[in-house]
Amino acid sequence: MTNRAIYPGTFDPITNGHIDILKKATEMFDEVVLGVANNSGKDTLFSLEKRAELCRLATSEIERVKVTVFEGLVVNYAKELNAVAMIRGLRAVSDFEYELQLALMNKQLSTDINTIFLVPDYKYLYLSSSLIKQIIRLGGDLKDFIPLCVEQAIKEVYKKKNQ
Ligand code: COA
Repeated sequence: MTNRAIYPGTFDPITNGHIDILKKATEMFDEVVLGVANNSGKDTLFSLEKRAELCRLATSEIERVKVTVFEGLVVNYAKELNAVAMIRGLRAVSDFEYELQLALMNKQLSTDINTIFLVPDYKYLYLSSSLIKQIIRLGGDLKDFIPLCVEQAIKEVYKKKNQ
């Protein structure tokens, strides 16, 4: 039986912090499904398809990773996949309350699925997708924090918005 985990998120867009967590997760599981959420409640910069495309491009060299999109409750999707665990990144203390709430609520909805928190490398501790978008929009250089394809995609979107 495949020991599979799901790593869900909005990934608007995927950053090197997410990739760092994903690589750590692949050391623990036979397969990690990176699930891009369609209804995370966020007003996203990128469409679902674009977010998934960027995730695929950015993770194409990591073995045993599959990128999918999902709709509805993440616990239902985890069950559909026969995933044994849900991966979430825990950065600073500020993440803790929200992440604990998600994990406990998911456990309430489905007792079969446990959340595993992984801590990213220290240089990604204060990284977030919102900060990345803001800095690129204002002309900052963040090539150590995002894959090249993501940097190009953000620049393209803002270029179009400014036309
Ligand atoms: N490195 C850098 N940044 C990271 C990170 C890491 N390792 N891990 C998370 N982040 C950042 C993201 O960039 C993002 O920043 P932003 O808020 O500025 O955009 C933020 O932390 C969280 O984003 P992400 O990891 O994509 O997760 P999310 O909180 O947006 O995802 C879902 C939430 C999709 C898991 C949740 O909404 C969900 O499960 N939705 C489905 C519906 C459902 O089941 N709801 C009930 C849940 S109890």
